[in-house]
Amino acid sequence: MPADKTASPTVSSPAFPSIDHSNALYQRAGELIPGWTQLISRRADQFANGVSPIYAQRAKGARFLDVDENEYIDWVNAVGAIILGHADDVVDGAVKEQIDRGSIYTLNSPLEIELAEELIATIPSAEMVRYTKGGGEACAVAARIARGATGRDIILFCGYHGWHDWYQAANFGVDPESGEYPFAGIEPIGVPRALAGTVIPFAYGDAAGLAQLLAEHRGQVAAVMMEPARSELPPQGYLEEVRRLTQAHDVVLIFDEVSCGWRPALGGMQEVTGVIPDMTVVAKAMSNGYPMGAVVGKRAVMEAARTMFISSSYWSDNIGLIAALTTIRELKRRNGVAYLQQVGEALRAALNSAIADAGLQGSCSGIAANPYFSLTLPDGVDRRKVNTLFIQEMARHGIHTLVSFKATLAHGEEEIARTQSAATAACHLIRRALDEGDLDKYLVADIKKEPFRRLVR
Ligand SMILES: Cc1ncc(COP(=O)(O)O)c(C=O)c1O
Repeated sequence: MPADKTASPTVSSPAFPSIDHSNALYQRAGELIPGWTQLISRRADQFANGVSPIYAQRAKGARFLDVDENEYIDWVNAVGAIILGHADDVVDGAVKEQIDRGSIYTLNSPLEIELAEELIATIPSAEMVRYTKGGGEACAVAARIARGATGRDIILFCGYHGWHDWYQAANFGVDPESGEYPFAGIEPIGVPRALAGTVIPFAYGDAAGLAQLLAEHRGQVAAVMMEPARSELPPQGYLEEVRRLTQAHDVVLIFDEVSCGWRPALGGMQEVTGVIPDMTVVAKAMSNGYPMGAVVGKRAVMEAARTMFISSSYWSDNIGLIAALTTIRELKRRNGVAYLQQVGEALRAALNSAIADAGLQGSCSGIAANPYFSLTLPDGVDRRKVNTLFIQEMARHGIHTLVSFKATLAHGEEEIARTQSAATAACHLIRRALDEGDLDKYLVADIKKEPFRRLVR
């Protein structure tokens, strides 16, 4: 039985912001849009459903206004796609100028070459470049190129790589009821069964397991595609061993840096670790919220795409190109990586102080620009409920977040201070709920759903 939304658990807690308009729109969406949203991570059940806002009307810098006129500090940032801050003046200015010159030409745009040069100068593995409009699409292009270049079919993977058939076919290899991977309890409905066995997951950090898979499928593996990291740096020597194994088996190594790229270093996790893959997939933050993705890689592999059919009309659009070019240049000009490190460290410290203030065990840790909040809980306590309570209470205080945070260049001292005071209140409430052994008493929202299990934390 959910708690009463109008009841305030402490004298000082503000009432929950009204989200009536958001809820009405969501109900309408349910009738018109199968699955409500375009991205699963945007569904209401991914947040504190019943409290978290669902629809926004404007966003600027580190904040947005929802359709009920509530303002929030944003730590989700379009699931990482926003890195400079919402509606960045410089990027938007460049886009607006480009719109006046033509959003897409009949002829090809020199911007394609200019951005390729910028990517090659920035990402260590980049010698040649192809474009897409998003991350999953770019992963599909990378998989196609690797298969075309090697003449082999199997892809071993570790991470989330989008919605396409080549990847979702992995679910045929596991029992969906076990909730194993990648969509807990969801079958690969609509994915051709003929693809079963063409894509196989491996566990992050387990180099021996990968070695075994490579040996088992010797001569059949086209590529190893993986997220080199997510919220934590890779274990010492792990990526080096993956690189060694892929070289030994003559397999294309693809780093999917769609989520882990740009924030810890502009050249991505490969720049941080010095382990250089054969191909890299980038998207999201590269264009500060405009649709863009790219596959970059070594000439020896990428050149195979010359004779392959990889082609789409809007991959030539100028908006994503100019947005990406401007975003990357602005990240360099504003010393973005150093700033993200600084703001991320301040955020970690703020959340750790909130945890300590409430006398809880746990930490906010991980890569500074993308840290995560995790409490050490007594046995038997449902973590999903605790996390939902955290998200719910942060929303109460005008902070839109999950338990992981994506920093931007627009976040500063004020956002950190407000986040700290919200987190302190949230942690105290969690502490009280834990002490009373009754999380439900304080949960107004539905328990947050896990969309799919990620292999890389
Ligand atoms: C590592 C990784 N690869 C691919 C994708 C898919 O990108 P998109 O949602 O732009 O298709 C995501 C999205 O979250 C991702 O995190």
